[in-house]
Amino acid sequence: MSIQLHIHSSREAAVRTVALEMATLIRNKAHAVLGLATGATPIPLYQELVRLHHEEGLSFRQVTTFNLDEYLGLESTHPETYWNFMHRNFFDHIDIPAANIYLPSSHVAESELVSHCLAYEEAIRAAGGIDYQILGIGRTGHIGFNEPGSPADSITRRIHLDAITRQDAASAFGGLEHVPTHAITMGCGTILAARHISLMAFGEGKAEIVRRAVREPVTDQVSASFLQNHPCAHFHLDPASASAL
Ligand code: PGA
Repeated sequence: MSIQLHIHSSREAAVRTVALEMATLIRNKAHAVLGLATGATPIPLYQELVRLHHEEGLSFRQVTTFNLDEYLGLESTHPETYWNFMHRNFFDHIDIPAANIYLPSSHVAESELVSHCLAYEEAIRAAGGIDYQILGIGRTGHIGFNEPGSPADSITRRIHLDAITRQDAASAFGGLEHVPTHAITMGCGTILAARHISLMAFGEGKAEIVRRAVREPVTDQVSASFLQNHPCAHFHLDPASASAL
């Protein structure tokens, strides 16, 4: 097993490939289950899926989605919740029923944290497991918010965000002091249970962490390196993010 590398001519080409794979799955499998990601990387993917919905009749009526993660401690009206991100960039523009959309909550009481996370795992299982998981990669090597030290068999849980991750989010929040310190994330084990995984990484800033994830031995210091042990993990790169391979 090893990560299958796809070095595309551009990020647009990468996005078109991934969107087409997702569309083929959705057209061929009733009740397809998608694992979705946030961040800058998947925005053009969602734009392409919205285009396929409007122009080529791709319907999400039978699709169920599970997002990787959510910040903790934000009001539901906060624009940076991943719930709001996903609706703004994707769900508001397609025909997916609200009941089919799952994200961890951004405001869970401490006493309900464990049961909330276990219920998320159970909802994924009850939906039949994730058919197609989209991932980005953070500069810490995180997938979801599985920061360095996350075990390969970890499940959905609260995580303390790495300083680099919080710095990378600072401009979106208008300053580091406004970035949440914690999040809920699917675990590495949750992600690795997906049947097909497509990680997208674009730009020179991702080149070194992509190299470490793909070329260095598997380590819990780079969660994305666990994908080396997955039977169907694909990296979709542009020339810049592939430049250190
Ligand atoms: P980005 O984030 O898409 O905004 O670069 C990726 C990630 O942190 O997983």
